[in-house]
Amino acid sequence: MIRVKTDPQIQAMREGGAMLATVLTILRKETLPGVTPKDLARRARQELRALGGEPAFLGYQGYPDVICISVNSQVQHSIPTDKPLQPGDIVNLDFGVKHKGMITDGGITFCVGEKPTADQQRLLQGTERALQAALDVVKDGCRVGDVSAAIEDVLKRHKLGIVRELVGHGVGYELHEDPEIPNYGSKGTGPVLRAGMTIAIEPIANLGHEEIVGDHDGWTLWTADGSLSAQFEHSVLVTANGCEVLTQA
Ligand code: MF3
Ligand code: CO
Repeated sequence: MIRVKTDPQIQAMREGGAMLATVLTILRKETLPGVTPKDLARRARQELRALGGEPAFLGYQGYPDVICISVNSQVQHSIPTDKPLQPGDIVNLDFGVKHKGMITDGGITFCVGEKPTADQQRLLQGTERALQAALDVVKDGCRVGDVSAAIEDVLKRHKLGIVRELVGHGVGYELHEDPEIPNYGSKGTGPVLRAGMTIAIEPIANLGHEEIVGDHDGWTLWTADGSLSAQFEHSVLVTANGCEVLTQA
């Protein structure tokens, strides 16, 4: 069942989403060569506490940190490590905030310390443009398949591998609620979105093949072919005419 949120719940998600975006902006600036994902996770914890929010990922199904930091061919859900980042690494920060009982989820991917190569740029731009294309179709009355198809179209045009196993999702009371929002699909299919619903949209794409493999840590996922992977995510409110991005400062 897809649940519609009340105005105070939506307001709480706006406030929490703004905290989330603020922390990601700070972390992005601090993601320099030599810094470790663990350093960044510590900073995320500190900055979120200073803003008055609580981490939403910590303890979720046993997840051991406040943020997922996936580097290069790590696809998603990676536990921050103490391996120093290097110039040219592709880093995904995926962060969740709980505020006044409500959860928001958001992520960004970027290149560390130097300009991305042409292929890295295709991965980063294609994945971010896929998220934007999804935001452009979300509105009251649209179907999940419309959103999925918009994402698939952009990822395919950028010749990226579309990770099938991971999906966007409803968000708010829980980190993961109905509906699932795959990053591929057909227009006119799937559940209807209504004003007041809140969803997290997260295209996840690989520079190479779509296949992924799991790590023995139970969380980290890797591209099977060792190619780079990217993710961009926003939590949004469905409105009568479009959507409102909640995870922005
Ligand atoms: N955006 C990720 C997702 O929806 C967040 C995962 S948090 C974790 O899957 F704790 F489950 F890793
Ligand atoms: Co998510």
